[in-house]
Amino acid sequence: MEAKRDGFASKFGVIAAAAGSAIGLGNIWRFPYVAGENGGSAFILVYLGFVILIGVPVMLSEFMIGRRSQRNPIGAFKRLQPGSKWYLTGVMGVVVAFMILAFYSTIAGWTLHYLYLSVVNAFAGLDEKGLQTLFNNFHTSTMMPLFWQAVFMAMTAFVVIAGVEKGIEKYTKILMPILFIIIVILDIRALTLDGASKGLEFLFYPDFSKITSATILEALGQAFFSLSIGMGVLITYGSYIQKDNDLVNVAVEVSFFDTLIAVLAGVAIFPAVFAFNIAPSAGPGLVFLTIPAIFQAMPGGYFFAILFFFLLFVAALTSSISVLEVVVAYMVEEKNMDRKKASIISTILISILGVLATLSFGVLSDFKIFSKTVFDLLDYASANIMLPLGGLLIVIFVGWVMPLPSVVKEVSSGKKRKKIFKVYYFIIRYIAPVAIGLIFLNGLDVL
Ligand code: PHE
Repeated sequence: MEAKRDGFASKFGVIAAAAGSAIGLGNIWRFPYVAGENGGSAFILVYLGFVILIGVPVMLSEFMIGRRSQRNPIGAFKRLQPGSKWYLTGVMGVVVAFMILAFYSTIAGWTLHYLYLSVVNAFAGLDEKGLQTLFNNFHTSTMMPLFWQAVFMAMTAFVVIAGVEKGIEKYTKILMPILFIIIVILDIRALTLDGASKGLEFLFYPDFSKITSATILEALGQAFFSLSIGMGVLITYGSYIQKDNDLVNVAVEVSFFDTLIAVLAGVAIFPAVFAFNIAPSAGPGLVFLTIPAIFQAMPGGYFFAILFFFLLFVAALTSSISVLEVVVAYMVEEKNMDRKKASIISTILISILGVLATLSFGVLSDFKIFSKTVFDLLDYASANIMLPLGGLLIVIFVGWVMPLPSVVKEVSSGKKRKKIFKVYYFIIRYIAPVAIGLIFLNGLDVL
């Protein structure tokens, strides 16, 4: 007996939910600092190349697997290739969901704390040094970061328990456009700072001498992370997409918006980095240092700061629910668990790992595995290793295992799409697997 599946009601709902997953801390927090650590512009060019050449086709492939199978990532492979080991790709996705949400919730918690700080006007009168001290004192402490992380995880669980469509889909449709407008306002302010041109040069004037194989792997990992691909989030969302929605359009639009927001975030942050003498390679604290500094120097900054951190929190939430949804959809569909119970159990388990991630900036900062803190290890292993590996398996599956007629049917969605199909199929059969494989081995220093 098969229960009727929930689904997204409209094309706009699909875009809002999928873009809500893609657009998040990855764009506004991670992209600028990873670009900063990897020398800026040349990294960004490589990143853009990967989004177009590998990101869009992998995203499309995930949507197809989901819509074809009508299942969570583990169930999807079981249904499309029964009796094979392919379901392990989905298992890896569930494991990565744990890893990502554990460290993602650390930063989302920081965002909530900064929202609180902006409400109580705590940045007022602080110079760069003062902001740095504020950030250091907060993120290396124990109680406050854990408290906000717990609040964030509880909210994520709350939304997932309620179901995605009626709550988050409705709100993201309104909130994501507002986020976009705020970032544009920030960009305008940032571009009029003294020293803005240095920031733009750092972003857009490519210096290819900064490219190494490790940088290339970082760019690939960032593309996967930012687009929410390689672990089954978009397989799960794909399973909620109606048959008559055009998957090619959805994949292209979501990737476009995601990239646009990342670039706009970079344009907001780098001029400020140079104007306020912050190191571009300042790491995970970069947004938390630059954004308050920009708002300080801006009329109406008090309100904009509140709005910004609120929307950053919303962006984080619409991403984290998509990650939790993978685990919950699996438990509900494969283990016949009740949705609420599944949400609560998985949230608690993820939070335990999350505590270690959060404390790795403070009391656990000397606790290292493979010479990385727990936070860094979760971040590096998920984005740079497991997501690309998942993506590799996904394109091999669609390119070489799934029967051609199913692939044609899902890509075309009723339209004749001969040319696009040819290009797509060529990429996922040959280009993407070879490219991911090479970058991967090279970046890990195996080649
Ligand atoms: N894409 C999200 C972001 O940029 C993070 C994410 C990664 C969400 C992987 C789902 C899966 O913030």
